[in-house]
Amino acid sequence: MIPSTDLHTFSRYIYTVSLLGPLNIHFQKKNIETMAANYEDRDPLFNFVVKEGNAVKGLIDSGMSCVPQPFVQPLSERIATPNGQTCEAVQPIDLSQIDGPCHTEVAKQIVEAAETLGFFQVVNHGVSVELLELLKMSAHEFFEQPPENKAVYLKEVCPSKLVKYGTSFVPEKEKAIEWKDYVSMLYTNDDEALQHWPLQCREVALDFLKSSMAVVKRIVEVLMEDVGVILEEERMNSLVGTKMVNMNYYPTCPSPGLTIGVGRHSDMGMLTVLLQDGIGGLYVKPDNGDWAEIPPLNGALVINVGDTLQILSNGKYKSAEHRVRTTNIGSRVSVPIFTAPNPSEKIGPLPEVVERDGVARYKDVLFQDYMNNFFSQPHDGKKSLDFARAD
Ligand code: OGA
Ligand code: NI
Repeated sequence: MIPSTDLHTFSRYIYTVSLLGPLNIHFQKKNIETMAANYEDRDPLFNFVVKEGNAVKGLIDSGMSCVPQPFVQPLSERIATPNGQTCEAVQPIDLSQIDGPCHTEVAKQIVEAAETLGFFQVVNHGVSVELLELLKMSAHEFFEQPPENKAVYLKEVCPSKLVKYGTSFVPEKEKAIEWKDYVSMLYTNDDEALQHWPLQCREVALDFLKSSMAVVKRIVEVLMEDVGVILEEERMNSLVGTKMVNMNYYPTCPSPGLTIGVGRHSDMGMLTVLLQDGIGGLYVKPDNGDWAEIPPLNGALVINVGDTLQILSNGKYKSAEHRVRTTNIGSRVSVPIFTAPNPSEKIGPLPEVVERDGVARYKDVLFQDYMNNFFSQPHDGKKSLDFARAD
């Protein structure tokens, strides 16, 4: 727990950040109380939130009623309005028809969505809707524990390399910290998952992972089929050999207009399967279009294309830039499953696609190197792809 003097520092920290930047600085210089909360004081906040693992949730629970400066995003990253355009035009795809008489039609819907927005929703996906409800409940259960129960999963202290709890993406390198707590669970095998993943979520997360993998593989098959590639089972397994379930918790935020839940980014892997709750706030930006919200749809799963699939398809399939808005209507949870190649896998545009396109837009890279680069930098839209771009 935090000593009460620290709590004091934090409540001094919680001045409202004025949108009138220079005036605000002037005010701060004149006010000794607020000066203590100036930029130099990022450290105590960082220690409390990130290093000690109290996370954003701990900050809110300590009575914080305004957004501390280190969470305030530059104007360019803020999301002004809660509801811009929604992607309502994109109807959910009914996966129950994928192996029936309507296969061609369903495959076409999947291919089109992957080629344009890089995001779509699926229903009748074979993952039990009861399981989806349990997942959201267990995410709440995990994050609503006292901070000391979660802090055992901080990278610095957790004996297992499979589990990692934290706040934001790479907080030590970010200009502004993302308003998001998370726990990541890497999959190696069932026994290790059931042994090391947090008790509150291990069983449901493992069930979710297993039932979603069937969906992932079927969608990858369909996408590959459209470029004339049939993946051998072994190659398919190595392309989706890295599997991770995350639970994200976006605490209710006093000033959603100043913060960001997750900054603009694309996912690095093949496909992401995401369960979101009813709160909303997931936005996606097509290559030449405006940000639009993926509306929550009960029972549906969100699927999005990651960088690896964009690289393999030589740019045909779009790894979508997306971000998450914060809200003051309640705490939001989401549960993504990230699938990516084995670290030892070499990835590059598939020969069939290069032949068709007459040019390779990406070079071959070792996935381990791609991953290291991805995790070493703060979220910055689709910059991650530059690592594999052909010169
Ligand atoms: C992510 C992500 C979206 C969400 O974790 O990579 O984009 O809705 N999450 O939480
Ligand atoms: Ni993402």
